[in-house]
Amino acid sequence: MHLQILPVTAPKQPVKNENELVFGKQFSNRMFVMEYDRGTGWHSARIQPYGPFELDPAAMVFHYSQEIFEGLKAFRRPDGQIAMFRPEDNVARFNRSARRMCMPEVDEKFFLNAMLELIRLEADWVPHSEGTSLYIRPTMIATEPMLGVRPADQYLCYIILSPVGPYYKGGVAPVKIWISDFYVRAAEGGTGEAKTGGNYAASLYAAKEASESGYDQVLWLDAKEKRFVEEVGSMNMLFLYDGKIVTSPLKGTVLDGITRRSVLTLVKELGYEIEERALTVDEVMEGAENGRLEEAFGAGTAVVISPVGSFCYKDRCVQLGDGTPGKLTMELYNKLTSIQYGKQPDKHNWVTLL
Ligand code: COI
Repeated sequence: MHLQILPVTAPKQPVKNENELVFGKQFSNRMFVMEYDRGTGWHSARIQPYGPFELDPAAMVFHYSQEIFEGLKAFRRPDGQIAMFRPEDNVARFNRSARRMCMPEVDEKFFLNAMLELIRLEADWVPHSEGTSLYIRPTMIATEPMLGVRPADQYLCYIILSPVGPYYKGGVAPVKIWISDFYVRAAEGGTGEAKTGGNYAASLYAAKEASESGYDQVLWLDAKEKRFVEEVGSMNMLFLYDGKIVTSPLKGTVLDGITRRSVLTLVKELGYEIEERALTVDEVMEGAENGRLEEAFGAGTAVVISPVGSFCYKDRCVQLGDGTPGKLTMELYNKLTSIQYGKQPDKHNWVTLL
């Protein structure tokens, strides 16, 4: 498929004061778009000025949420070069999500090249300051106007770019996590593993309650027994428990996180044993009190590595260590970001330079 490049007539300038960058509020001048019609396949691939779409009010995405997305980042290195972190893994996951949501897959090579081309054209939007990056949001929506419940016959796939600072206002500061004993995010056989908007919409109510009570995030338990800790919507959870790294297995309810995968490689190299099993909520709460749970952190593209300061469950709260970020947590944050920003060699071949 040919990629058409359309001109931008009135370009905006990227923000000057990068300290003011927040997560996902500003967007660059261009976006990638392509369309799909059953029978024809993907067509009309183009990079065009960023702007609103005109969609029919009956477009199926508005009614039945047939939607998927991805999140990845481009980093500015000290020598000015731009690096992307494991982009082919995100594109592969985009297609896995598409399959689960009965949406058309994209040609991974074409899609990745189009993404790289978009970033090259928008290179000025990759910020320079420490802790900043260009967040890339590939998205696919069902556009066919139709109210019957079935997979749509028409789709729009697009990529937008947003220069970002830290996901949490406090940067790499310990977060206070509420473990919900009532709401659930994903059940076995459901769509928990797919990166689809509905999973996030379903999490909002509990997140709102958590925020109103002073918590930063909700940690979800399994839907069946409400006993095993799974993930925190915007990040996978990893625990340093009994000297080993413990994290939920990928059984369909937890997102197959690319940061999770990278962290597991790094901890293995540091000599830690890994247990892919779900900790019980009792292990978390008692472990924090008796010292078996030394550290806990979230891992995700947007948050990078997010240390946990405390967990609250029912009417009990426990603090991890002295409440400050754990030693291993910070070591992993530094290792991962050093590879992303080119301060350490990329011996795993995770980086694509533009
Ligand atoms: C990411 O880490 O890129 C995500 O997609 C999480 C998000 C919902 C902010």
